[in-house]
Amino acid sequence: MHPGMTAIVEVEDLHVHFGEARAVDGVSLQVLPGEVLALVGESGSGKTTLIRAIQGLQKPTSGTVSVEGRVQTIFHDPRVQMVFQDPTGALNPRQTIYEIVAEGLRIKGTGGDERHLVADALARSGLRPPERFFPLYPHEISGGQRQRVVIAGAMVMEPRLLLADEPVASLDASIRGEILALMRRLVEETGLAILVVTHDLGLAWNIADRVAVMYLGRIVETGLAEEILDRPRHPYTRALLSVVPETREMAQQILVGEIPDLTRIPSGCRFHPRCPLLQSDTLAPEIAARCRGEDPGPVPLGVGAHAACWPVLSGN
Ligand SMILES: Nc1ncnc2c1ncn2[C@@H]1O[C@H](COP(=O)(O)OP(=O)(O)OP(=O)(O)O)[C@@H](O)[C@H]1O
Ligand code: SF4
Ligand SMILES: [Mg+2]
Repeated sequence: MHPGMTAIVEVEDLHVHFGEARAVDGVSLQVLPGEVLALVGESGSGKTTLIRAIQGLQKPTSGTVSVEGRVQTIFHDPRVQMVFQDPTGALNPRQTIYEIVAEGLRIKGTGGDERHLVADALARSGLRPPERFFPLYPHEISGGQRQRVVIAGAMVMEPRLLLADEPVASLDASIRGEILALMRRLVEETGLAILVVTHDLGLAWNIADRVAVMYLGRIVETGLAEEILDRPRHPYTRALLSVVPETREMAQQILVGEIPDLTRIPSGCRFHPRCPLLQSDTLAPEIAARCRGEDPGPVPLGVGAHAACWPVLSGN
């Protein structure tokens, strides 16, 4: 991390277990002011559970989440706002756009000119002129506009961090780019940070500064987006990348087997039963033995490039 810069969010050795299921199993990460961090991984890898814990909606089994240096204990810290996957489900159909965006302000009780703040948030979210949208109901606007209303409802709270869980997955492909461009612009304009969850690495390239790749409750690789795109180091990241249309020159690797049961996380490297590199039989025998028998551990807290993989860690 840069000296003197306080991370907006710092997650340290976080665990969230549901009974025997280790949905988050030792995650450390930082999100810095003004950056977009994409959290990618297959379904069931623990992405939503991790961001719910960051938002204070899910109690950690152990470990801590700090927001601007203070350990997160408050339910619904206004500095952290969430943008959900499905804007239609997130909006109350009986409230007008004005009421929806004003609601958070009323709960927070900030004072100030409510009408002005609501108009400003709508305009910044690309709904112009904002007054035209005040009296409308969610069913009277398009899906893309609904997601802009959700974003306005978050931005009116002046958050330091937006958590966005698959924010464009439910939208038409034709408007996904516009919503991503809006999120990117809000970062540039306000110094806000965004942690965006996606199972789509192609989307991550379009918006993220940094990428964290999650597999079975752990972050297995982090780094700058362009570095991970050019030189993915973890075999899991390589496999995810090989099926992204933007990387057609890579040989496609279809991973064998389902993502394992979280109640039975494999010993050794948790990816080893599915790892194409281990299966290729090109690793030195002592490295292959480590893959099967020794956990490479979580990637360290911070912003550098790291991969939890024995051949990488041993410099091969
Ligand atoms: N409240 C809960 N109680 C029990 N198990 C849960 C709960 N919430 C999540 N899980 C389990 O934790 C695991 C991780 O789920 P999570 O929703 O975090 O994954 P995800 O990476 O967001 O997946 P997706 O890409 O499908 O959204 C899953 O096996 C899920 O069934
Ligand atoms: S540690 Fe071994 S099994 Fe795990 S990802 Fe790296 S090469 Fe594959
Ligand atoms: Mg999810």
